[in-house]
Amino acid sequence: MASKTLASIILLLSLFTFSSSHPDNGGIAVYWGQDGREGDLTTTCDSGNYAIVLLAFLHKFGAGRTPEWNFAGHCDNGAMKKCTELESEIKHCQDNGIKVLLSIGGSPDYSNYSLSSAEDAKNVANYLYTNFLSGQFGPLGSVKLDGIDFDIEVTENHWDDLARELDYFRQTTGRYFYLAAAPQCPTNPIYYLGKAIATKLFDYIFVQCYNNPGCSYVSGTNALLNSWDTWVGLVASNNSLFVGLPASTSAGNGFIPAEVMNGEVLPYAKTASNYEGVMLWNRYHDVLNGYSDQILPNVIKSNLLIRLNVG
Ligand SMILES: *[C@@H]1O[C@H](CO)[C@@H](O)[C@H](O)[C@H]1NC(C)=O
Ligand SMILES: *[C@@H]1O[C@H](CO)[C@@H](O)[C@H](O)[C@H]1NC(C)=O
Repeated sequence: MASKTLASIILLLSLFTFSSSHPDNGGIAVYWGQDGREGDLTTTCDSGNYAIVLLAFLHKFGAGRTPEWNFAGHCDNGAMKKCTELESEIKHCQDNGIKVLLSIGGSPDYSNYSLSSAEDAKNVANYLYTNFLSGQFGPLGSVKLDGIDFDIEVTENHWDDLARELDYFRQTTGRYFYLAAAPQCPTNPIYYLGKAIATKLFDYIFVQCYNNPGCSYVSGTNALLNSWDTWVGLVASNNSLFVGLPASTSAGNGFIPAEVMNGEVLPYAKTASNYEGVMLWNRYHDVLNGYSDQILPNVIKSNLLIRLNVG
């Protein structure tokens, strides 16, 4: 029998040769829309630092509410007002290969949303699909956003139904779009999004590793890396994980200095097969701190050296 050593083939593969639903090489996702000083969407995308931009937030919806969004002065805010000046910028980002998702929810201090029933989830899914994903003229113009991000911080109810209803659209319309969830890092229990994440329908899971000392960077990396291991074990293998962080010390507790990120956290996080990148809160703090510039080369998944044992 040929020796195992001879039979083993070393292949240099880039990830997209074997990952069908996530054909990219990882990257940084950033929240945009919560601070008027952060610069426009075009500049954000042209920085070259982001793979995904999350438009934040559609902050009022469900239970019969008239949907409203708040993009912090980037365009008209409020009920049913237009934000169509973003159309060309969104298309510019997409033309450059950057995925643009609408983030729904946000801090309960600045929002008002909930779903009252499975039927309500269906109505909200229909609203989201028609207005933001279908390409029909809607609040952001005639855009086909790349997906919907659930940044849900109130109640557990019916977010799983909403995920299933949105998935129904991607199954039946023939157009794939992404579902993302941004849970806080505690896992016992997972707040608000536990049932939704259990559907396995989320392409991207942005774990908010901040504002929770038990699973964030506080004085060392132990709590954070233990929590990362738990998340890796908890989500489906086809759901990609992002380490979610504040982009500066003033954006939230749990900021990780770039040298710790590059030297310790990213090398460890990347050992998970479903690692996909880093999520940053938010663009404004990233502009001030230059954080994505400092970590980007280490965020990207390098080509993988894979040893296949044949025989
Ligand atoms: C939130 O929405 C509900 C349902 O429309 C409404 O009754 C309630 O007054 C709203 N709360 C705030 C603080 O606006
Ligand atoms: C992950 O795989 C499960 C089947 O195990 C499937 O139902 C689900 O749609 C997949 N999720 C994604 C995001 O592709």
